[in-house]
Amino acid sequence: MVDPLVERARSALTDAYVPYSSYRVGAALRTADGSVFLGCNIENANYSNSIHAEEVAIAEAVTTGHTGFAKLAVSSAARDGVTPCGMCRQTLAEFCDESFPIVCDRGDDTDEYTLGELLPEAISQETLEAASGDGESK
Ligand code: THU
Ligand code: ZN
Repeated sequence: MVDPLVERARSALTDAYVPYSSYRVGAALRTADGSVFLGCNIENANYSNSIHAEEVAIAEAVTTGHTGFAKLAVSSAARDGVTPCGMCRQTLAEFCDESFPIVCDRGDDTDEYTLGELLPEAISQETLEAASGDGESK
């Protein structure tokens, strides 16, 4: 049986706007209260403006007051087990601890990770606080 959150990520990728890469990505983010926020990638002729599916889902959740994240599923139309990129991993780390589960769609099965596996040594507010006071004097 397909994880219901993966099914939601699959449904989200149908809205992807990908005239440049043709690589459709969908994300489904479940928050602590059981809500699910969807995102798809949105590309731009200025390539670096492109927005990732995970970013859209995270932004939608935070914009509506949901900052406690429970689980993320990511899917591409290729069902190739795509994982969140480094930037999106760091964005997740702002809200999630290392045990946060991330499920990646491989079609008949899934690859399952924790955020800590995908992004060891994330920078955090604690990193900045620990450094404050001794950074400027060097
Ligand atoms: N992309 C995502 O939206 N999320 C990922 O996890 C990896 C990559 C998008 C960005 C771009 O629109 C396309 O996939 C190819 O990199
Ligand atoms: Zn990304």
